[in-house]
Amino acid sequence: MKCVKVPLKQLNDTRIKLMESGQMNMEYRIKASSEYGYIPVDENPDGYEIVDMDLEPMKKVPHNFSELLEGELSSEEIENLRTSFDTIGDIVILEIPDDLEDKKQIIGDAALKFTKRKAIYMKRSAIKGTTRVRDLEFLSGVDDSVTIHREHGARLKLDVREVYFSPRLATERKRVMQSVEDGEKILDMFCGIGPFPIVIAKNKDVEITAVDINKEAIKYLNENIKLNKLKGSIETYCGDIREVSESFKLKFDRIIMNLPGLAYTFLDIAVNLIEENGIINYYEFSDSYEQGIKRLQDACSEVGKEVEILNTRKVKSTSPGEWHVAIDAKIK
Ligand SMILES: C[S@@+](CC[C@H](N)C(=O)[O-])C[C@H]1O[C@@H](n2cnc3c(N)ncnc32)[C@H](O)[C@@H]1O
Repeated sequence: MKCVKVPLKQLNDTRIKLMESGQMNMEYRIKASSEYGYIPVDENPDGYEIVDMDLEPMKKVPHNFSELLEGELSSEEIENLRTSFDTIGDIVILEIPDDLEDKKQIIGDAALKFTKRKAIYMKRSAIKGTTRVRDLEFLSGVDDSVTIHREHGARLKLDVREVYFSPRLATERKRVMQSVEDGEKILDMFCGIGPFPIVIAKNKDVEITAVDINKEAIKYLNENIKLNKLKGSIETYCGDIREVSESFKLKFDRIIMNLPGLAYTFLDIAVNLIEENGIINYYEFSDSYEQGIKRLQDACSEVGKEVEILNTRKVKSTSPGEWHVAIDAKIK
């Protein structure tokens, strides 16, 4: 390999000059002995001593995640990690199993290179508490947990450390949005940063009332209302739906209840606030639909109403045998 030979002291300056003039061969590594440095070149640049040396080729930049982690993890471990990726805007959240704890930095750096996003975080807890937020540990990139996620043409700004958001519900949100008709009055009882209200109001001329107990979530929803061009309108309330709803004078054509662990404890409010023939989009964690249907029926019979089940579906798997299920119910 043709090289420029320079005393070690001049190595860095010469490297920069040759690189800037486009004469350095970037496919090989520079070699250094105790006195001289050898810089690979394609031609014979003027004013330098040229010698022939064996230089090591540069490693190809690996393109995929497996290649980046080859030799560090088994292919099964790599595949499990890959399916745990949640991409929210320019942030990636990973689930790293306990037995790979000592490799978390290598995994985080590989995920950063592979995804080319701004930041990589790892899950440090389950989703917990009233606000349904999880602990995250920063791994790689820039530690900035605010991002803008794009979904069905909507821009959703959020802080992944402060609010609940799951990109895995995108299909469900689209499905609900498509079933909404112009003119509906809608209540989202647990709106978070507003993905249901924003996606719906972007596409439909509706009036939405959106409530959440997490003030950070409502702060971002208010920003999201400004960030998006909406056909419909959204009015936001911060507080516990049980208290906030006491001031509602209106009844609603549709009520969205996406708090799957506890939504059933708020069904009494929903069945009171729903219009005749209105629809409740009800969610819960379960291994079947029967439990949710029974809960809807019980809440309705308490107030002399009836339920017609329009649709049921599995939104996503939560643990083996358990699902985040959706039930669309017409209340009469
Ligand atoms: C599972 S998240 C869903 C958020 C949003 N609907 C979404 O799909 O991204 C549930 C939300 O309910 C809110 N929440 C919990 N208890 C509440 C209550 N009693 N009243 C109002 N909001 C509540 C939490 O702060 C959280 O943002």
